[in-house]
Amino acid sequence: MSTPPTTMPVHAMLVLGTRPEAIKLAPVARAMAAGPQFEPIVVTTGQHREMLHQMLGMLGVDVRIALDVMRTRQQLSDLTARLVRELGTVLREQRPDLVVVQGDTTTALAGALAAFYEKIPVAHVEAGLRTGVIDNPFPEELNRSLIGRIARWHFAPTPAAARHLTDEGVPDEQVFTTGNTVIDNLLWVLAEGAGASAFRTDAKRILVTLHRRENQGERMRGMGRALSRLARRGDVEIVLPLHKSPAVRDALLPELDGQRGVELVEPLDYLDFAATLAECDLVLTDSGGIQEEAPSLAKPSLVLRTTTERPEAVEAGAARLIGTDPDAIVTWAERLLDDPAEYRRMATAGNPFGDGEAARRILGQLAEDFAADVPVGLTASGPYSTA
Ligand code: UD1
Ligand code: UDP
Repeated sequence: MSTPPTTMPVHAMLVLGTRPEAIKLAPVARAMAAGPQFEPIVVTTGQHREMLHQMLGMLGVDVRIALDVMRTRQQLSDLTARLVRELGTVLREQRPDLVVVQGDTTTALAGALAAFYEKIPVAHVEAGLRTGVIDNPFPEELNRSLIGRIARWHFAPTPAAARHLTDEGVPDEQVFTTGNTVIDNLLWVLAEGAGASAFRTDAKRILVTLHRRENQGERMRGMGRALSRLARRGDVEIVLPLHKSPAVRDALLPELDGQRGVELVEPLDYLDFAATLAECDLVLTDSGGIQEEAPSLAKPSLVLRTTTERPEAVEAGAARLIGTDPDAIVTWAERLLDDPAEYRRMATAGNPFGDGEAARRILGQLAEDFAADVPVGLTASGPYSTA
């Protein structure tokens, strides 16, 4: 199916629901709002409530439509059903020229699926990340693969991500390597300044975040015990902004609440988080976005997961994938704290995730395709079609 050339401005609906989607789509929304070619229609699903609202104002994103789907301890099937239904209604009312989704959350999958049902083409930002293990991370690996089947534009952050897509049969002319928009945003926020670091002492500073579903429960409790052992060295300050998920708090609070050397804080707004990251010595995380941000600020990171879809930082030497075993966490953290040569090697490895120009490239490509007489429909043709 192809659609006729669209008159400017192109109506682009950006669908976002969680903290990282707000952070990573903000540069795209800002760039669209700044020029005449696009009219951004930002729809927030509210998959996250506090952690999403905390971000939007300071990121310069104007929300047009705000849904409110979050439920405490939401189940994936209920969340997905609510999202597809409510986004379908919004799409029928607004009829945008395209839908933009980011990454691999349930909001992103539901946004792409609802757009497909309404026959509206989808642009996928941060396309092509793969671990190759369908349930790790859960459910993100499946989500992003499914979005890859739906999308018309695949904006891959790195050459390796672009290769995954072409290996899966996505036509070359629909895959674009752009860098990751998270770097656009980090550079923008650091240039604005004004954030406050959460570290309070001049001990060795460790920034920790943990939230992944596949680690929740006993595994996350073990990770909490490893952090407690590290704190008992007496020469470190661990700052851990606690994710709002009750499952995360159930696992970590019993192990860490009241432990000297550990500051458990509420989620930091992005300005403060960037300032805290800029001040830390070492990052321990299972976050996707933080794996990308840490090497940009020359911070070594230990990835507390058994798989990563961001091997570029590991291959560059800026990150280590160390798994979730408590002994491994303590051993690797101590090695970096106590071995300056090892520390320096990781800190100087560089950033493989982009140059801060990703949003400009994404808009450039979309504007070109909408202005030219190229098919912007769902698919142009197939091996068994007569088109
Ligand atoms: C979601 C994404 C994950 C992403 C992460 C970023 C899915 C399936 N998971 O995981 O890919 O890495 O966001 O942080 O899309 N909650 C609040 N307030 C908030 C946010 C969450 O109370 O602002 C609580 C609610 O009880 C909610 C629970 O956290 O039910 C889990 O939220 P959910 O979005 O389902 O999963 P995350 O683990 O946050
Ligand atoms: N972040 C933040 N405040 C915090 C923790 C994280 O602003 O207290 C930012 C961080 O800079 C990164 C993003 O949130 O850009 C990562 O979100 P999260 O770890 O929740 O999700 P993931 O990236 O794993 O999907």
